[in-house]
Amino acid sequence: MRKQAISMLLGAGLSAGCATPQEGVVAAVDPVEERAHAAHAVVENYCQGCHLSEVSTQNTKALDVFDLADEDWAEGMPKKQLLTVVSLLSGRKIRKHLRVSATAEEVTAVRAFVADLLKRPYQQSTP
Ligand code: HEC
Repeated sequence: MRKQAISMLLGAGLSAGCATPQEGVVAAVDPVEERAHAAHAVVENYCQGCHLSEVSTQNTKALDVFDLADEDWAEGMPKKQLLTVVSLLSGRKIRKHLRVSATAEEVTAVRAFVADLLKRPYQQSTP
């Protein structure tokens, strides 16, 4: 009984912590879109320094790979690069990239989004 009340409180606290504008109509939101939004927020937080055109006007090489100003930033990215996004967020150092360590939840969110993308047939035909 008591245990239940505590976990209900915890649940309420958690959902309040990640409040989105759509809160209250969550059931109506497409889960794939929801994951895309969550992943965009995480990648923007860690990677905007070079991969967001509004911030990084000079870093054309990084923007050529993806630009977070585009809501569909990962659209058409090859599988290898999508997996690199996840590796980088998990703290692996790749080429000129600094080591970042997103939280386990953040990595999970981006991994789920990448899995959604890779399920789509056209994505697999890109080199
Ligand atoms: C300091 C600037 C900088 C930051 C910050 C940065 N990148 Fe990059 N990124 C680059 C540049 C420049 C390239 C282009 C080519 C290269 O040197 O790898 C690149 C390339 C990439 C590639 C393609 C790599 C490949 O092998 O084809 C991926 C994927 C990538 N970045 C993901 C990320 C992610 C995810 C983050 C955040 C965790 C991030 N980057 C943060 C500068 C940056």
